[in-house]
Amino acid sequence: QEVHATEFERTFIAIKPDGVQRGLISEIIARFERKGFKLVAIKIVVPSKEFAQKHYHDLKERPFFNGLCEFLSSGPVIAMVWEGEGVIKYGRKLIGATDPQKSEPGTIRGDLAVVVGRNIIHGSDGPETAKDEINLWFKPEELVTYTSNAEKWVY
Ligand code: TYD
Repeated sequence: QEVHATEFERTFIAIKPDGVQRGLISEIIARFERKGFKLVAIKIVVPSKEFAQKHYHDLKERPFFNGLCEFLSSGPVIAMVWEGEGVIKYGRKLIGATDPQKSEPGTIRGDLAVVVGRNIIHGSDGPETAKDEINLWFKPEELVTYTSNAEKWVY
């Protein structure tokens, strides 16, 4: 079956400063990679607080907003774009519930995190946010379109 990479949807995934500091980068990337999703952009960056506020603008009325933005800008973040059929929704499933206490075992937060304020990973929650977040974190030329060798065995 002939499959073109550009037909697939893309989502924005970030390993937050706690995930980076705890040495969980490869663990988290491995879970997306072995599922069959494809990495099309990646960089390490320390976001400014202003940038964090842009990223989380939907939450600006929430009491935890300031602490959340302080935290996201407190150290290196791994920013990524992952591509694949259903990657936005299934990526959220791999990640687990917002509160790690409510995340199922087998999910990233369920297996690797304990409290909501240190839940190690972010993933876009829908097609619109995915588009906005990819545009906020990446320039178009930082996204790579390619066909992986495994693709014909995944699809
Ligand atoms: P949200 O977008 O609701 O969750 P998710 O990351 O699962 O999409 O919230 C963004 C982040 O804000 C969340 O990952 C952790 C933090 N947060 C708190 O610190 N306290 C809270 O009560 C909530 C709901 C979120």
